[in-house]
Amino acid sequence: RLTPTPADKFTFGLWTVGWQGRDPFGDATRRALDPVETVERLASLGAYGVTFHDDDLIPFGSSDAERAAVVKRFAAALESTGLRVPMATTNLFTHPVFKDGAFTANDRDVRRFALRKTIRNIDLAVELGADVYVAWGGREGAEHGASKDVRTALDRLKEAFDLLGEYVVGQGYDLRFAIEPKPNEPRGDILLPTIGHALAFIERLERPELVGVNPEVGHEQMAGLNFPHGIAQALWAGKLFHIDLNGQSGIKYDQDLRFGAGDLRQAFWLVDLLESAGYQGPRHFDFKPSRTEDFDGVWASAAGCMRNYLLLKERARAFRADPEVQAALRAARLDRLAEPTAADGLAALLADRTAFEDFDITAAAERGMAFEQLDQLALEHLLGAR
Ligand code: GCO
Ligand code: MN
Ligand code: MN
Ligand code: MN
Repeated sequence: RLTPTPADKFTFGLWTVGWQGRDPFGDATRRALDPVETVERLASLGAYGVTFHDDDLIPFGSSDAERAAVVKRFAAALESTGLRVPMATTNLFTHPVFKDGAFTANDRDVRRFALRKTIRNIDLAVELGADVYVAWGGREGAEHGASKDVRTALDRLKEAFDLLGEYVVGQGYDLRFAIEPKPNEPRGDILLPTIGHALAFIERLERPELVGVNPEVGHEQMAGLNFPHGIAQALWAGKLFHIDLNGQSGIKYDQDLRFGAGDLRQAFWLVDLLESAGYQGPRHFDFKPSRTEDFDGVWASAAGCMRNYLLLKERARAFRADPEVQAALRAARLDRLAEPTAADGLAALLADRTAFEDFDITAAAERGMAFEQLDQLALEHLLGAR
């Protein structure tokens, strides 16, 4: 029950368990992991798949021959373990050439290089079976007011996604894009800082149907936002193409904690939402095992991400199944929220004296909403007290 299996669709980035613990103040605390070792360990832990940035798998600057050899060896490991590659992405942030961004760098040659680097890895992603391609624009942003004309930069960002869409359609690929919002870090301010900004941007593209979002728990929380609410809006818009699960404690640097650490209540509501909405995509963990850990700690934290998801899924299911909760939901009038406000039409609303002239405002204002009791039941389920 709490043992992960591929049916749970848990996936991990090579860069997550492979993070060597380098931070702005300290050097690496762990050796590099061989991607094949990662594939084998993840498979034995019960994961469904693995994801990667081009450079996680094929070191930047590799020759074509080196690249082919790496891909062949990686594909063989996927084959022998049965691990899938549902998503891949591009590293457009580590190399100094991307210091002012990639698709929105002021330098046109850098923008053209970024597109070619992305397209090259899209071909590999499709070859390995991916159907989602993530775009995290960590360097698309600014620290200096006049250094970036944001409206023009958004023109360039739209141009990039339009070209990428044209490419995948032209190739006949079954691949959709997922934009990952983040408010800041590494840039002082990043373009498309939240789910909402990204959703609005997508509607301006030439092929909006090809583009959705890949929200990350901690990124919305860095902006002080309610992550489950953002996910609910992405689902409502039909745009939740992928998700990055991790943990974050409040508004501060991007912590990338293992899933379940940080804001546990939001994690509970998130799992409740994903499961009750029938989200079918991978449950992708994008976290960084603390740099205090050796490899035992790394694999323990990967296992912890999956176990915490399964525990929360069990807690959420118990919450929904509890008859007292169902009564509390009715007392809180969730069933009334589900009723259209004026299914009788505008004319009937305007003619309805009970809607306005005869409306008992005082009585309505005095009605309690019974939310505290409902929330206490949720907390007790989350704590395992029911
Ligand atoms: C972050 C981001 C990145 C991206 C990843 C995909 O923590 O700032 O999550 O990890 O998800 O690089 O491009
Ligand atoms: Mn992050
Ligand atoms: Mn992420
Ligand atoms: Mn990350």
